[in-house]
Amino acid sequence: MKKKVLVTGGTGFIGSHTVVELIENGYETILIDNLHNSEAIVAQRIGDITGVVPQLEIIDMRDKAAMGKFFAMQGSSIDAVIHFAAFKSVGESARKPLDYYYNNLVSLLNLLEETRKHGIKSLVFSSSCTVYGQPDKLPVSEVSPLKPAMSPYGRTKKICEDILADTVEAVKELKVVSLRYFNPIGAHPSALIGELPRGIPENLVPFITQTAIGIREELKVYGDDYDTPDGSCIRDYIHVVDLAKAHVSALHRLVNNKNKTNFEVFNIGTGKGVSVFEAIESFQRVSGVKLKYRIIGRRSGDIEKIWADTSLANSELGWKAESTVDDAMKTAWEWEKSLRGGK
Ligand code: WQD
Repeated sequence: MKKKVLVTGGTGFIGSHTVVELIENGYETILIDNLHNSEAIVAQRIGDITGVVPQLEIIDMRDKAAMGKFFAMQGSSIDAVIHFAAFKSVGESARKPLDYYYNNLVSLLNLLEETRKHGIKSLVFSSSCTVYGQPDKLPVSEVSPLKPAMSPYGRTKKICEDILADTVEAVKELKVVSLRYFNPIGAHPSALIGELPRGIPENLVPFITQTAIGIREELKVYGDDYDTPDGSCIRDYIHVVDLAKAHVSALHRLVNNKNKTNFEVFNIGTGKGVSVFEAIESFQRVSGVKLKYRIIGRRSGDIEKIWADTSLANSELGWKAESTVDDAMKTAWEWEKSLRGGK
């Protein structure tokens, strides 16, 4: 009997790529999403890739009654949950903190109320490396001290992890794995799903591809006066398909009762730091497009450098990132071109 996984935020960037991997690994999926940051057509695209169009229910997880109604119908058939649904822009969270606290926290609280009510035991949570703030020591490991997050977005992720850690203490049968993502980039090799930023992209790679295809005039590089080899910020860019596969590994761990404690945290990155200028060079190399960019002042809230110690995920989840930044840039570019009619 196939295990059934509820994927919240399932039509989103990471969610949709994870649903593809879940289906391809024999899981049945059911998606809920409020389409705030994604489009319903993504479910059809997942069908084009896998042959299975997942069930999609348009639900806002802040709506307690709607969540109760959904779970009253579906709760007994759900074996596990992967919770992606959240607002996720660092910059926007500084402009709209109350929206971020309300959405990201209430969505989780409503979900946990229902998982408890329906005895759902396994939950994978989408967290973020922003919970580390600017680490003192790199690479950063799961036991590194958590410095103050640099944004309301990062603080919501930290608070959600605390909510989960406290809940598993009280709700004994619940088991949680929290995956701390580094910087997800790229798209599915089919170029049928990928990142769909609404409006002006906040993140580096969609801004690069939109500049390359002519939608944006130029890329602004936020500062080259950091204490790094080339002066630009360093991040751990991970291919979104590698990240999706980490969720399947985490789910396998929980549904097969391989977890060692009921609240586990894993860094999901490549373990390699890449600067903004190196990312630009990577894109130019794989696309053959000379990118127009201008160096301006630092962006407030940016940390200088971070990359992951991934040894725990490698050993405990049996997962390791396989794609390079070049691979990810190539798929990001193919996706951008397919979005704009295959130019
Ligand atoms: C990367 C680097 C910028 C845009 C955030 C979240 C993280 C995750 C990924 C959700 C930085 C520079 C960017 C631009 C630039 N989100 N940059 N010009 O801020 O590292 O991480 O997104 O999980 O949790 O914190 O990602 O892509 O915005 O920035 O120079 O137009 O690129 O300064 O150094 P970030 P980013």
